[in-house]
This record gives sequence, structure tokens and C-alpha cells, in this order.
Amino acid sequence: MTGFSAQWLALREPADTAARHAALAADLVLRLARQAGGADREQRIVDLGAGTGSNLRATAPLLGPRQSWRLLDHDPALLEEARAALAAWGGEQGMAAHAAGARLILKGPERRIAIAFAQADLAADPAIGLDSIGEDAPHLVTASAFFDLVSADWIARFAAQIAQRGALFYTVLTCDGRDAWHPGHAADGEIARAFQAHQARDKGFGPAAGPQASTLLAEAFQRQGYCTREESSPWRLGPDQAPLIAALAEGTAGAAAQTGLLAEETVSAWLNARRHATCDIGHADLLAWPHPARPLSSG
Ligand SMILES: C[S@@+](CC[C@H](N)C(=O)[O-])C[C@H]1O[C@@H](n2cnc3c(N)ncnc32)[C@H](O)[C@@H]1O
Repeated sequence: MTGFSAQWLALREPADTAARHAALAADLVLRLARQAGGADREQRIVDLGAGTGSNLRATAPLLGPRQSWRLLDHDPALLEEARAALAAWGGEQGMAAHAAGARLILKGPERRIAIAFAQADLAADPAIGLDSIGEDAPHLVTASAFFDLVSADWIARFAAQIAQRGALFYTVLTCDGRDAWHPGHAADGEIARAFQAHQARDKGFGPAAGPQASTLLAEAFQRQGYCTREESSPWRLGPDQAPLIAALAEGTAGAAAQTGLLAEETVSAWLNARRHATCDIGHADLLAWPHPARPLSSG
């Protein structure tokens, strides 16, 4: 099991929200309204590898007045954290929070968001949690900062499952490997190669697609008769984001060191030089929708 701490997810959330490709998100808004049968109709959304709910916090304010989300993650502690964080976030957005059975309901003047939380190991089955008893298929399956963990084979099976349901697919902040640290350092190339070797390790889904994930997703959806649009969503981290840069540098150095491909002194010299660095970290956002000639899933 890969472990992600709530602290790390909180540290990266503002950079993630700022990096999302706005025009692609606007495209999603229009296509989702159509997919759901009208802008005012309920929009059913499944979020994969939801963590503490960052994707919902960034996406829900753009979407329609009635939303029903299902947040899936294998880590029950993160799902508990998500419930508390989303109730608090709803309050900041002027939405009252109450429980309805196991669901959290956020209700404000402009929208009502019903949120279900489900512990699910997606590695075992890409379709797990896509369907819920008594509910129709989701209109949208989404994820943020998730797909670089999965394998090429998993992506192919996943795209087939989404296409079977005719749902939209939208994922943001998938690492694309286009990272650059400033100022440059003699060990940048070696560190990058070792880091990428670490990224390709099995994260529970088979050999991880890492920086290839977004391209593999686009190709897999195209094979299913979907149209795709991919855009860049890099982090551009300046001196005002020193805590995130420091955590990122430590994580990168730690992962590179674990591969055993580099001398310890090389890794620590690189890390030391990164104390006052800035960086660009490449990500991709991807939207995939059924080709217009394909019938949409029903309401
Ligand atoms: C980088 S975090 C992103 C979390 C969140 N989407 C965000 O943007 O903050 C990746 C998430 O995938 C989840 N994850 C990893 N492997 C999983 C699996 N096999 N099944 C379900 N979730 C998994 C982790 O628990 C973690 O919450």
C-alpha cells in the first residue's frame, strides 16, 4: 500500500488548485451539464484516490446546483479526514453541513452537494466503486494526482469500464516528468533518472505508468471511441512556496536514494543545493468524452 499523509496533501493543495488548466475545466462544465441532461439536473460524480477531498473542493464550485459525489480511497484514515475537511470547507463556502446516513450533505444558496465515502482498493478492480446499489451510472469519473500510480494494463482495463458506462472522464495533475529546478545543479540529470526509476515502481497496480500515464489514458480512451483533450498544468513554485519546495526536494532525493542508483554524497549535495531553489513540476490534465456519434448514457 502506498502511503500519502494528510499533511503532504494539505501542503500541495493550494499549488494543485492554482495549476489546474482553467479552460479544460470550463470544457468539463459544459460537457457534464450535457451528459447529465441539463445544467440543473443532478450530476453524479465518482472521485478515485480522493485522499482528503481536494479534487471535490476545486471542482464542485464550478459544477451544477445538485451534485452527488462518491469519494473512493483505500486509506480509511484519509477518508475520515476528508469528511471533516469537507464539512469545514462547506462552512467556509456558506454551505451548512449535516449527515444523512453515512453521507455528508453540504447545502448552500447555490448548490447542494451530497458526498458518500467508500473505502475501496482500486488496484484489485478498476470498476470497484463505480456503481452503487440503487444509483444509475456516474456521469463523470474523475481523479486528481492519482493516475501516475497505476500501470498501463490497469489503464486499458479502466478505460474499457468507463466506456461501458458512457461516462465522462476528467483527471488533473498527473505527473508528466517535465520537471526543472532552478538554479541547475550538476546532479540534476542523475537525480531525475533515479526519481523516474522510482516512479515506475509498482504502487500496487503493476509497474507504474508514471509520466506516461496521461498519454496512455488518452490513447486508451481513443481506442474506446472517445474524444480527448489534454492540457498542461505545471506547478511553478517560487520563493513564497518554500515549505512545499523543501518537502518536494526531500521526497525527490529520498526516492532517488532508495533506487540505489546514486552515491549518498551525490544525493545529499543535490538536496543541500535545493534549500533555496525554485522549480517547475510538470503535470497534465485530461478530459475524455464519448464521441458524439456514440449514444450518451441515460439521465
Ligand atoms: C497523491 S494522492 C492524491 C489524493 C487526492 N486526489 C489529492 O489530489 O489530494 C493519491 C491517492 O490515491 C490513493 N490510492 C493509492 N493507491 C490506491 C488504491 N489501490 N486504491 C484506492 N486509492 C488508492 C491514496 O490513498 C491517495 O489518497
